[in-house]
Amino acid sequence: MVEFYYHDGKDTPENFTDEHNSGVEVKPEDLESIGVLYFNVESKEELDNIASERNYKNRDEVCLSLKSFNNDIEAFNGKMKQFYEEHYHEDEEIRYIVDGEGYFDVRDKQDRWIRAKLVKNDMLILPAGIYHRFTLTSNLRSIKAVRLFKDEPKWEAINRSSGRDSSARTSYLQAISV
Ligand code: LAC
Ligand code: NI
Repeated sequence: MVEFYYHDGKDTPENFTDEHNSGVEVKPEDLESIGVLYFNVESKEELDNIASERNYKNRDEVCLSLKSFNNDIEAFNGKMKQFYEEHYHEDEEIRYIVDGEGYFDVRDKQDRWIRAKLVKNDMLILPAGIYHRFTLTSNLRSIKAVRLFKDEPKWEAINRSSGRDSSARTSYLQAISV
């Protein structure tokens, strides 16, 4: 079952896949106020229902582990670095965890990191325009997830370091400011 908490901010390039739990819990209502949705999805039927209710027409399944990179540690570390770089997308990002575990970090309104530790049967929906990052857990270093798409996947990650705003970012800030 998912855990939501504030990140302790003590991550380094060596330990960023550790838990980093500050001990301060975050409630699902707090996530809703920044447009983040969580569902516990126990069956394929439930997944299909959410997908059709929200008009997700396409999906694929991704595996991320050292093995999925044929044990090429450099390539694996490169991908991990990319996913941990703070970014947003112009579309929703939806992940349903089939196996393994991972951390999704999202920024709250005060720009603090909230960490979601996702395990099997957890589904997280990040709105377009929210700054976030992702990594595996030190324990398992492995995840299998379904990605759902409304239309064609638009996979550009807009890194915060680029300083680039777009209408997705502006609309998101407007939506959470009420
Ligand atoms: C992504 C996640 C990992 O952009 O944030 O695919
Ligand atoms: Ni992303």
